[in-house]
Order: sequence, then C-alpha cells, then structure tokens
Amino acid sequence: MNVAVVTSAHDFRRACQEARVDGELALVPTMGSLHAGHESLIKAAAQWAPTVAVTIFVNPSQFGPGEDLASYPRERAGDLRKCEESGATFVFAPETPAEMYPPGFQTWVEPGPLARPLCGERRPGHFRGVCTIVAKLFALSRADAAFFGEKDYQQLLVIQRMALDLNFGIEVIGRPTVREADGLAISSRNSYLNREERQRATALWKALQAARRKFAEGERDPASLEEVARQSLEAEGVRIDYAEVRDPVDLERPSRADATSRLFLAAFVGKTRLIDNGELGAPR
Ligand code: PAF
Repeated sequence: MNVAVVTSAHDFRRACQEARVDGELALVPTMGSLHAGHESLIKAAAQWAPTVAVTIFVNPSQFGPGEDLASYPRERAGDLRKCEESGATFVFAPETPAEMYPPGFQTWVEPGPLARPLCGERRPGHFRGVCTIVAKLFALSRADAAFFGEKDYQQLLVIQRMALDLNFGIEVIGRPTVREADGLAISSRNSYLNREERQRATALWKALQAARRKFAEGERDPASLEEVARQSLEAEGVRIDYAEVRDPVDLERPSRADATSRLFLAAFVGKTRLIDNGELGAPR
C-alpha cells in the first residue's frame, strides 16, 4: 500500500501545507466504506489537481439518535486500496472521534434555509454536523477544490453556500450520481440491504423515471409529478419519507416545474433509508 495515511489533525494540516507548495490541492471528504461513487470523485479530483487528499471519518455529529452511527460500515483496508487505485495522494483517517471533537469542543457551523427542507426536516441537526466537520476539513486542508456527489444534492448545495458564506475560497465541485446497472444510486448504505430489499431498492430510480416520463408528456404541476413518484414508490412496497419537486438552486418549491427542477426522494426499504434525486428534464 503506497498511499500515505495520517491520523492526526496536526499531521493532516502539515501534509496539506507541504502539498500546496507543489501546486493545487483537491479534497475528497468521505465517511469511508468507499464505493464506485467515491472512486469517481477521487478520479475527478486527480484530474483537477496534482495532489488529492481523501478524508475518511464517520462523523458522529451528523447522525441523529436512533440512526446508524454504530453500524455504519467501516472497511479501512479496502478503503485505502480504493483510494490508492483511484489516484489519492494521501488519506486522513482519524482513529477516534476525539481527534476532530476534542474535549471542550463547542463551536458549530449552523447552515441556513437550504438545510431546512427534505433531509434537513427529517434529520434535525444533520446538516449542522455535516457543515461543522466539512468546515474543519476545509480549514485544516485549505484545499483549492473539494468534490462531493450529487446523490447528496442538498448536502452539495449546503456546502457550496457554506464555502461562500465563510470565505473558504474553496471551489466546491459536484459530480454526477453513480448508479448500478439497474439504476440504483450507489451508496454505502446499500450494504444494509438483503437480497429481496436490494431488488426493491430500485423503487427510487423507477419513481424518478416515472416522474420524468410524466414531465416529458407535458405535466408541469409539481404536486402531480410528486403524486406519480409516490404511486410508483408505493407500488414497489417501500415506505415513503419524502417525494418532492424542488428548485435546483434554492430548493424552494416551484409553482410550475421546468426541465431543471429536481425530484428529491427518500424512502425506507426495510429499515434502510435511501435517498435519490434527479432533474425532471434529464434524458431517460
Ligand atoms: O457525504 C458524506 O459522506 C458526509 O456527509 C461528509 C461530506 C463526508 C461529511 O461527513
């Protein structure tokens, strides 16, 4: 294994400082359990900058009570191999939560209205935890760019806004969702699904496609498009958390959908909560 690993915030800061002397630095923050989606982010980062830092940290502050913090998959050896194969230069993998939240920690980054609907409403405090950890990683690395997946589209917008509002001077770049052959958005949480659930998990993709078909037929009423998605999800036997058409920039509900409007979906397949989203006008 050639990829260098640092485990302390101090060493991460120093490694980033040294890397920036040689040119630009790109950052790929992750919670580990890396999959093809992360690999595509690391590869895109490696095209963008000569040095790529990947961070692997299961961030406790973005999990709510009763969520899957304890069971979140942790696969360090496989993760490091994937980092190396995808072009990472070094990895920051704190060994304990205290490395990022030492005793006495008390300062949080509170996001604004972009963090309120959708996952913000369903998972109170989630984006506060995300913003706080990402702000810390931005401050430590002082990277030139950071890469995030569009599967977590709301997260991407919230982080882009935070980077602007707090003057990080980091370009926050979103990359397309990577999907399995049957359309399921690749996610670390897919590993929770048993065989039968894995088959049903395509429900989100099918609902997105159903709404896109309806949009292509001329439907522009957000509520009607949402209803099509809801019916499709229900037909697949998954429990809907939300199915909402939103504006791609401010996440407000449009009075009339256009091709750039996005459908946002969250649904429980068994006990596993999955999310997905996509443009209504995207080719099917
Ligand atoms: O998307 C994720 O994996 C996490 O929310 C992130 C951005 C790494 C922060 O912990």
